[in-house]
Amino acid sequence: MELRDVVGGSLQMLAERPGMAHPYLTLSDSETGESWIEQAHGLTKEQVRRGRYAFGEGIVGRVIQSGRTRVVHGSSPKFLNRLGRSEPEYMSFICAPVRLDGQVIGTVSVDRHGADPAELQVDVTLVEAVADMLGHAIAMRRRAAEARITIEAENRRLRAELRERFRISNIVGSHKSMLAVYEKIAQVARSNTTVLLRGESGTGKELVARATHFASPRAEAPFVALNCAALPESMLESELFGHERGAFTGAIETRKGRFELADGGTIFLDEIGELRPQTQIKLLRVLQERSFERIGSNQTRRCDVRVLAATHTDLERAIAEGRFREDLYYRLNVFDIQLPALRDRREDVLELANFFVNRYGSERDPPVTRISRKAARMLWAWDWPGNVRELENCIERAVLLAGGGVIRAEHLPATLRGVEPGDSEARGEAPALGDAPAGATLDEALHALERRMLERALGQSGGNRAAAARALGISERRMGLRVHKHGLG
Ligand SMILES: Nc1ncnc2c1ncn2[C@@H]1O[C@H](COP(=O)(O)OP(=O)(O)OP(=O)(O)O)[C@@H](O)[C@H]1O
Ligand SMILES: [Mg+2]
Repeated sequence: MELRDVVGGSLQMLAERPGMAHPYLTLSDSETGESWIEQAHGLTKEQVRRGRYAFGEGIVGRVIQSGRTRVVHGSSPKFLNRLGRSEPEYMSFICAPVRLDGQVIGTVSVDRHGADPAELQVDVTLVEAVADMLGHAIAMRRRAAEARITIEAENRRLRAELRERFRISNIVGSHKSMLAVYEKIAQVARSNTTVLLRGESGTGKELVARATHFASPRAEAPFVALNCAALPESMLESELFGHERGAFTGAIETRKGRFELADGGTIFLDEIGELRPQTQIKLLRVLQERSFERIGSNQTRRCDVRVLAATHTDLERAIAEGRFREDLYYRLNVFDIQLPALRDRREDVLELANFFVNRYGSERDPPVTRISRKAARMLWAWDWPGNVRELENCIERAVLLAGGGVIRAEHLPATLRGVEPGDSEARGEAPALGDAPAGATLDEALHALERRMLERALGQSGGNRAAAARALGISERRMGLRVHKHGLG
């Protein structure tokens, strides 16, 4: 209930009592003590305007000053009658303090006509009860408002934190394939275009989706993510579009779907390739018409939602095999961003590793601040089938094991230790130096040897091309050409 209604109801209740008129609530300024009529029953606007009292002035001012209820006869010189009532000599004025956490913050008062002293005493008790009750109501209201302010401030802080964390500039990597990603985000963020994010697991699809949202004009509105592979079809539809109460067994309450929750913002549909045909049709309709129905309802709802979708599966193949609708594919694939696998941008491995050392290591006491050369070489040499997520987990764990200072080789998983450059068996990689694969031509064998030597040199230099070139006795320029030829950079 609104505070105004609570006060209004109480004042009306007083006004309806026999012989009572003009009840009003005053509030006072906590600094100056000056009070004004906050709400009244049966007073003109002009009277309300006139009803201002300095601290200690008139009856209202005295009640505020002393914190004690006063009853005065209308003919008393103390009664100022600032509101200009006619014939005040036939009335008494009852005024009780309103307290908030023990402090007087205002008054409740009423005019009482023709009461004998005994009746007047009953009325005083009533006015005091109303004043107490309003004090509680105001206190509760303030507490709720304070809680709301705290929650809003907290929400603002969290949103700012999210925004900061998912800034495009916080996506790490300077390989040219990543520069292309940044450029694409910048091109598309400010529009409402549907984006399809593709890339292996752990390459940063969700990260890019969030960055796109936070760089868009929708940044202040919700970002709602849903993994389409995580739920069975029946539940997925109700998650997406919501349902009416009783729409199916177990639908005990009406629930909004993610599209409704994301209204004004962005929805991120992860693993879109896993959608069943039935749901694909419904999604297609949302993309085309921006409208849908809750399950069990025939009321069409409209939504203003930007759609970002992600998949690590081969959608073209799914279309060819009849598992994915081609029309939906075209709707989703308006603009696509391809996230590179980490092994295809090895130069970024150490930059990312250091970024995660900073993220996880700086919270430790003592902090973990760096990676040893040997460990760096191992990170560089690994193929990272789980991509950035695998690297992130690996560093988070290494930080714990390191306990402070430096991450060393022994803090890395055994699988990585097995691939120390030069250790070809562990990596399951033929050929060893000089061992050409059976049936290979000379050119093929030389090519394989060259690649192997390059990899080893780069591994030992921690990815530093100049150092690798020196070790191999070739110029940096030739090194660059070879690295390019073998797709190592
Ligand atoms: N370029 C990057 N810079 C910094 N952190 C990254 C980068 N790419 C990925 N990450 C981090 O790696 C983790 C995995 O990323 P994300 O969840 O976005 O991957 P994904 O492509 O959605 O994977 P999946 O397909 O398995 O869901 C996240 O913690 C993310 O913050
Ligand atoms: Mg993901």
